[in-house]
Amino acid sequence: MGVPAPTLSIRAYAPRDLAAALDVINAAARSYRGFLPPEEYHEPLMTGEEFLREAGRMQFYVAEDASREVIGVMGLEHAQDVALIRHGYIRPDHQRQGIGEALLDHLERQAGTVPRILIGTYRENLAAQAHLRKHGYRPVADSDAVLRAYYQIPEAQRRGSVAFEKKAPGNTGT
Ligand SMILES: CC(C)(COP(=O)(O)OP(=O)(O)OC[C@H]1O[C@@H](n2cnc3c(N)ncnc32)[C@H](O)[C@@H]1OP(=O)(O)O)[C@@H](O)C(=O)NCCC(=O)NCCS
Repeated sequence: MGVPAPTLSIRAYAPRDLAAALDVINAAARSYRGFLPPEEYHEPLMTGEEFLREAGRMQFYVAEDASREVIGVMGLEHAQDVALIRHGYIRPDHQRQGIGEALLDHLERQAGTVPRILIGTYRENLAAQAHLRKHGYRPVADSDAVLRAYYQIPEAQRRGSVAFEKKAPGNTGT
């Protein structure tokens, strides 16, 4: 993996980022063509309206390169006793350079003292799962129950997804 440029900066999403954030999300989500069934795959993956609805329930963060271009997006949502990291997307030409890791680190620090952080991903999204494993996340034992408890997503998406978790240091319980 490459190391992110020292000029990478991460900050909270602001309304002026909307178009750039959508561009990143929808460019990165084209990789879903590789595994989603045609009836579930659509472009764009996320419309502005959908993003704004999501932004109403979670805090998005953006990663910018040296020229202040948005190259990564990730959201942090608190749900009951856990934190969810959602909608993580890195612009395709900037992937595998540690930017996803830098965003994960940042959001984990913002998550506070929750006992665990959850991330749901498509069952067949093996690249994302490799990314999560590399950064200390492990599949939860009871994925369907966790997805039901913490995520309001369509049933088909829930069935096609798996949940990963990272426990707070020192927390060895389930
Ligand atoms: C998954 C994603 C967010 C990772 O961000 P990133 O900046 O590329 O990740 P990092 O550089 O921090 O970590 C790289 C590691 O992730 C995994 N990875 C990332 N892209 C991969 C790919 N295309 N194929 C296989 N593994 C991949 C590998 O483990 C890689 O380590 P390596 O390069 O040493 O093999 C990014 O690839 C992305 O936007 N993908 C499309 C959207 C998506 O799947 N989002 C995840 C939702 S949970």
